[in-house]
Amino acid sequence: MTQHASLEHPAYNYQVVRQFAVMTVVWGIVGMLVGVLIAAQLAWPALNFDLPWLHFGRLRPLHTNAVIFAFGGCALFATSLYVVQRTCQARLISDALAQIVFWGWQLVILAAAISLPMGWTSGKEYAELEWPIDILITIVWVSYAILFFGTIMKRKTSHIYVANWFFGAFIITVAVLHLVNSAAMPVSLTKSYSAYAGTIDAMVQWWYGHNAVGFFLTAGFLGIMYYFVPKQAERPVYSYRLSIVHFWALIAIYMWAGPHHLHYTALPDWAQSLGMVMSLMLLAPSWGGMINGIMTLSGAWHKLRSDPILRFLVVSLSFYGMSTFEGPMMSIKTVNALSHYTDWTIGHVHSGALGWVAMVSIGAIYHLIPILFGKARMYSLDMINAHFWMSTIGTVLYIASMWVNGLMQGLMWRAYNADGTLTYSFAESVAASYPGYVVRVIGGAIFFAGMLLMAWNIWKTAKMPAAQSGKEVAA
Ligand code: HEM
Ligand code: HEM
Repeated sequence: MTQHASLEHPAYNYQVVRQFAVMTVVWGIVGMLVGVLIAAQLAWPALNFDLPWLHFGRLRPLHTNAVIFAFGGCALFATSLYVVQRTCQARLISDALAQIVFWGWQLVILAAAISLPMGWTSGKEYAELEWPIDILITIVWVSYAILFFGTIMKRKTSHIYVANWFFGAFIITVAVLHLVNSAAMPVSLTKSYSAYAGTIDAMVQWWYGHNAVGFFLTAGFLGIMYYFVPKQAERPVYSYRLSIVHFWALIAIYMWAGPHHLHYTALPDWAQSLGMVMSLMLLAPSWGGMINGIMTLSGAWHKLRSDPILRFLVVSLSFYGMSTFEGPMMSIKTVNALSHYTDWTIGHVHSGALGWVAMVSIGAIYHLIPILFGKARMYSLDMINAHFWMSTIGTVLYIASMWVNGLMQGLMWRAYNADGTLTYSFAESVAASYPGYVVRVIGGAIFFAGMLLMAWNIWKTAKMPAAQSGKEVAA
């Protein structure tokens, strides 16, 4: 039997899951390397090298696209296509379609990696890719939806497990968001103009932007949480009833919160206030979900001492709780008057992105790798433990430095003298931010180094003889 054949599962399609799982790590490394570079550029601008394609303005969207859609996207494809098969006890409806989804998505990523440094952009945050790539995304996404929902339809279980509800909502909502927000008038192969104008364009953009957070960076990863936390803890979900309330409350409220990105703009005041109120309400389902995940460990807390994979998953939930407390606070107009435009927002983003999205994905991938490569466990549990501490310390350094910077910037910008003139020039606030930027580079570099350790550990796991097993079974 060849090595390849020995990896195939008799009942399920593990090939596509394995492909996406490996690419999660590869794109995580690439995206975070660009993150460390742009963080360094903000501390030492000479690192822009005066080259247009290495400039911060072009590399920043490359970073966000690489970490959200390449790293996060591959993690979501890998886990959802695994979970849907396992919980429906059915193989994916088509192996060919699975390959179309995998290669199509890699093509989208490649196109982004070329077009963004070239400066081809629609200028819409998190939707920068130009119209030909948008069409490719639509084709891949529809194929993914057919694959996922088709598999649900041929399930052998009567029940649809809650993780699939979250994955399903993520797939449907992202399709709607992408289609509406990307509507544009092409003028050439590399340039198009939005179908919307003025304030409406801004509102459509942030309806998209916020729900990209809510459904790409949250609902999908909650799907991961609802499958992998109980699996790794070997306990049932704390409250299945709460998980259903969590799902419907989250779906109902998220859609309305977008205007909190447009406080004090030309958007009508009532819409801003509606966005603020909905954001405050969002705290309840978010924390309900976090508590449901953490309490799943009831009776299994001792496992945290010996299982670093479980630690990744549980700490990610703590960061989820933190960022979903901070977000509603930042949506209060008076708080936003201080936080907006400052590094506080960037700190908030990365407490969600590094602490929640990246850590829950890393935990899930560590759970999956031995299963996908037919091994009894990961090559080294000590390396996973080291990775856990590097991720945690890196995240804390990143977000703490940005909180300090953000508050300081907000307060410096609003300080004025008795005669009404500003106390500080903008350049003075940039100079005062320098130490925080250096600390962020250090935190980011530590997080990034942890990803390299993960890649090494996975490589060694894949090379382990299939028969090898240990007492520290991670699968
Ligand atoms: C090594 C890890 C990382 C480093 C060093 C890093 C660094 C950065 C930097 C320097 C910026 C630009 C900030 C600015 O314009 O002032 C940024 C933006 C951003 N990053 Fe990261 N990042 C990392 C990982 C991630 C991950 C894993 C995600 C998502 C899963 C992510 C999502 C984002 C987003 C969404 C923004 C845009 C924020 C905004 O516009 O408010 N980053 N990152
Ligand atoms: C209850 C949940 C949340 C609420 C109410 C919320 C609220 C907010 C608010 C008020 C802002 C600042 C808007 C501004 O001043 O421009 C913001 C920015 C942001 N948040 Fe959250 N947040 C939540 C959870 C999260 C999570 C879990 C993540 C990531 C996984 C996240 C990612 C982001 C991103 C990427 C931005 C920056 C958008 C940009 O300007 O480019 N948020 N959020």
